[in-house]
Amino acid sequence: MAPFPPPPVNTIDWSNVGFKVREVNGHIESTYSKTTGKWTPLKFVADPFMRIHGMAPALNYGQQAYEGLKAFRGPDDTTISIFRADRNAKRLQHSAEVASMPPVPEDVFLAACRAAVALNAGFVPPHATGAAMYIRPQLYGSSAQLGLNPPEEYVFAVFVVPTGVYHGVHPVKALILDEFDRTAPRGTGNAKLGGNYAPVLRWSDAARAEGYGITLHLDSAKHEEVDEFSTSGFIGVARHGDEVTLVVPDSTSVIDSVTSSSVQEIARSFGWKVEKRPIKYSEIPDFSEVFAAGTAAGLVPIRSITRRIDPSSSQSLLKTREGHGRVSSAKQGEETITFIADGVEDAGEVCLRLLSTLKGIQLGKLPDEFGWRFEVREEDGRKVEDGLRGVMP
Ligand SMILES: Cc1ncc(COP(=O)(O)O)c(C=O)c1O
Repeated sequence: MAPFPPPPVNTIDWSNVGFKVREVNGHIESTYSKTTGKWTPLKFVADPFMRIHGMAPALNYGQQAYEGLKAFRGPDDTTISIFRADRNAKRLQHSAEVASMPPVPEDVFLAACRAAVALNAGFVPPHATGAAMYIRPQLYGSSAQLGLNPPEEYVFAVFVVPTGVYHGVHPVKALILDEFDRTAPRGTGNAKLGGNYAPVLRWSDAARAEGYGITLHLDSAKHEEVDEFSTSGFIGVARHGDEVTLVVPDSTSVIDSVTSSSVQEIARSFGWKVEKRPIKYSEIPDFSEVFAAGTAAGLVPIRSITRRIDPSSSQSLLKTREGHGRVSSAKQGEETITFIADGVEDAGEVCLRLLSTLKGIQLGKLPDEFGWRFEVREEDGRKVEDGLRGVMP
């Protein structure tokens, strides 16, 4: 019997994987029926398509939630493990509740992620590339439903895609979005629902066209406190001499980032402090570093944060933090807080130290002291039903 895991497939140029969606062997599906109260046994489906009724609430009312996590090969490519899948299982349960859907039990979630990776193991990138397989669990209301009531059936599916690696750590410029709120104050910002993302696209696209690689949201009620970046959590670093404190927003409108909580635990293990509290816009200049935390890129150092704001506004830093060394204004109605000067490509030392430990754990180069690696075995792929898609009844 061939050993597990198989080596990376030779149909992909692993030195140049990039971020396009590549076809793999297939995905995992399970269906929940409200009548039986049960999830069907996991099924492997050998194609990337979902067969779903056009009147499904997923397509009409946005009754949907998703997750994002990663699987990595260990040294010598001889093991594969998924990073902190239990956290994503719990987060999907939370999102399900917010979108009026039944929770996927944690054991079903973990078995489905493990099976999806095991049955596509050849598509997990080689260890030496530092790249990973992205895992995309998704849940949605799938049976036909005209009225605005929760439907009878829900589909839970897990897709996987091999992804590339961001070479080096490149600081990016951030733009605060003041004209658009991604979530209402008592809304759905703490759930990973597709509907929170589509409306952001045109704003992040416009920002990118102006050279801002990432967009930042303030609290929707007053635009006074930091919420999160559009696709990642916010972490500020407060330094007093040798004392390092990570400051993360305490907001009910942000996603509970697995990456952020992981680097918070790593920071504590270094003897650093962590504060979770509301972060006022006006105190951002006091941070020595700011970075974005998310599964896609790990930690991304923020070069600068720009806000389009009337200088006469009571919130303008030109007023509240007049003369602060990090604050500047390149043009009327715009102010920028700079952490890493233009032309400098180096991330801050706190960011780099956290990132190298995080990656070391994910890639199996460091001991798994926190119990974060969920190993994938061959039998994880054997527990699912065969992959032929049945026709709709
Ligand atoms: C809005 C938002 N915030 C934060 C995160 C970071 O979460 P995680 O670290 O679990 O990927 C994500 C990405 O999932 C996100 O979409």
